[in-house]
Amino acid sequence: MALEVRVDTRRRLGAIDGKLFGHFIEHFHRQIYGGVFEPGSPLSDSLGLRNDVAEAMQGLGAPVVRWPGGCFVSAYHWKDGVGPAREPSFDKAWRVEEPNTFGTDEFIAWCRKIGTEPYVCTNAGTGTPEEMSDWVEYCNLHSEGRWAKLRQSHGHAEPYKVKYWSIGNENYLGGEMGSKTPQEWCRFVKESAKMMKRVDPTIELFAASTPDLEWMRLLLQEAGEVLDWISIHGYWDPLWINNNLAPYETCMAYTTRIETPIEQIRAILTATGQLGKIRVAFDEWNLRGWHHPYVDTAANAADCIRPRDENDRNSSYTMADAVFSACFLNACVRHSDLIGMANFAPSVNARGLIYAHPEGIVKRSTYFVFQALAEALKGTSVGVSVHGDAGFSVGDSIVPCLDAAAALETDGSWAVSLVNRHPEQAQVVDLRLDAGATGKATWCRVNGPSKDSYNDIGRSEVGLERGAFEIPSGDFLSFSLPPHSVTVVRGSL
Ligand code: AHR
Repeated sequence: MALEVRVDTRRRLGAIDGKLFGHFIEHFHRQIYGGVFEPGSPLSDSLGLRNDVAEAMQGLGAPVVRWPGGCFVSAYHWKDGVGPAREPSFDKAWRVEEPNTFGTDEFIAWCRKIGTEPYVCTNAGTGTPEEMSDWVEYCNLHSEGRWAKLRQSHGHAEPYKVKYWSIGNENYLGGEMGSKTPQEWCRFVKESAKMMKRVDPTIELFAASTPDLEWMRLLLQEAGEVLDWISIHGYWDPLWINNNLAPYETCMAYTTRIETPIEQIRAILTATGQLGKIRVAFDEWNLRGWHHPYVDTAANAADCIRPRDENDRNSSYTMADAVFSACFLNACVRHSDLIGMANFAPSVNARGLIYAHPEGIVKRSTYFVFQALAEALKGTSVGVSVHGDAGFSVGDSIVPCLDAAAALETDGSWAVSLVNRHPEQAQVVDLRLDAGATGKATWCRVNGPSKDSYNDIGRSEVGLERGAFEIPSGDFLSFSLPPHSVTVVRGSL
């Protein structure tokens, strides 16, 4: 029995912002050092930026990259990371020495190299509104004042024009450096925003947020008028302490919870009258939480650093990650009236979609999902519904087999992103477009031989395949979706 997918091009859900396919890199366990940046490597350029990593990021058309953290940023002082003499500092978040050889100038150079927009997250933990606004001076003023002049003295005559700035990272969490109460937070954000916008009124400001009514109510009441975005994070497989990765089926159950925080935030913004005025940046997300146990209990730093290598086990990144990531991105497209940015956390090493090692890189399963969806889901998100989906059991819950999102561009070209979550069974789909579809349709698919397929050095099980089919005279297209697969079908009205 075929499942029916109906696309309703008249139901316009919102303009799809390309920043939904954004990225995040943090100063954490080889994401920067040995990942993006490896001076002396034969694979690096004259600045020490890994060419192969940069080329892979270019292959994704990364629209925006958030940096430098994450927990790291809440005790990071940006002035340590600029200038000819970089003095190492101690990273209190991750209990390692930060060499500071990769700082603002290197990050901007990397963004230019891969053709992406920089998004800087500032230190609202141990930092001050003045330190944050000094950073905006360094990056965005031409030559007015000491910090812009300092940038010029470092050989960068022209301002960087960094458009996206976040105030803080998860300062609502007790474990964050410089954690704050809702009352402290709303005042701190307002004061920081005031100073940062005085330096450059054109910047777009984000603030660390969480779908908690009390936190958000005070933040929006006190600082809502000065914010353009609120930032939320999501990791579904909690591996921080125990690296017991959830099996494929459990990860499929996780996909049914993706929209919970989105709906919560939508309700809060609606209740506070900010819906449509402030957008949401899901600026850290990943199926898998990062593994970093004992960070605040280990007697010595080595004991909490060693387990972090577990994040780099390539066999961990299977079709579960690819299918989850496609469901997450589909959800953002369906909520594109609210969500304007999402940043995969992280892009390189640790739980990244690119694994960089001394001799090259491995593109993990989720890499191909970004390639397939980012190139197709553009224009306007339109209504899509699935009919006849009995789903499959995972524990006590029933998980729908299909997840779908659809997009329409002004030239009449359309794209439908279809995920078959089922671990073993293919699904036959009748795809109907209300406006009809004619001519040729193309498809692009991410899959591997099994739900546990993965890529590694010398092993390529997961990749992209492409094809085309003629749309029959009727108004629907019928085709089969393999198990544990992500397929994007494209055509024109
Ligand atoms: O596990 C990594 C951390 O997850 C990031 O540094 C932080 O922003 C989030 O809590």
